[in-house]
Amino acid sequence: MRTPVIAGNWKLYKTAGQALELVGGLLPLVAQTKGVEIVVAPVFTVLGKVAEALAGSNIHLSAQDCFWEEEGAFTGEISSTMLIDAGCSHVIIGHSERRQFFGETDATVNKKIKAAIKAGLTVLFCIGETLQEREGDQTFDVLRRQVTQGLRDLSQEQLKKVIIAYEPVWAIGTGKTATDSQAQEAHQFIRGVIAGLYDKDAAEEMRILYGGSVKPENIGGLMAQADIDGALVGGASLKADSFAAIAKLG
Ligand code: G3P
Repeated sequence: MRTPVIAGNWKLYKTAGQALELVGGLLPLVAQTKGVEIVVAPVFTVLGKVAEALAGSNIHLSAQDCFWEEEGAFTGEISSTMLIDAGCSHVIIGHSERRQFFGETDATVNKKIKAAIKAGLTVLFCIGETLQEREGDQTFDVLRRQVTQGLRDLSQEQLKKVIIAYEPVWAIGTGKTATDSQAQEAHQFIRGVIAGLYDKDAAEEMRILYGGSVKPENIGGLMAQADIDGALVGGASLKADSFAAIAKLG
């Protein structure tokens, strides 16, 4: 049985005060929620404060990115060890916005995933095709490439620290959710790629989240699909009531 994961990616939103207000609203709403791994991913500058607010709760803390080196002359970067020091247990790697705006490639994603796992973090590894790729019938080729290259050189043991988030780029922040069956088709394909790279057990264990305009109204239909194990939520994670409703799985 795969434990579902509901993760909120706050992107570039929320100052410290706003972040603490959101967490303060969220904690009582999900305190009784069991059987779901709930994660929030604020900006770097508020991680420490949010970690303190979440201490002893059932909400895990994630960063939105990390660098692959542990320390050194790398101005502006943050390492996995530093994220753990700030209270994180998870990190998002390879989000399409980082691939699109910050030059992230499958190779840099792979380096980051390896460093994060080595440090002890659980990785929310994002993949997904653009609209152009979907319309050009390249979806499955893109997903296979992203999974294969992103996970290169990872042992089956290390793979246990990976959660895949399938986020079709055309569904992010657009209000256009993939239909339940479009999402299921992609998730089933991704699970098959994992089975090919590792084995059937690794594929069965892998949690694969859907991301892209997830809301309280559509989480139920998505979760009813055999290969959808949760969601990576953007916009709807910025409000305590909507994120809590999603965390209750619809
Ligand atoms: O990482 C979450 C994400 O990119 C989806 O964003 O706003 O469409 O839920 P949103």
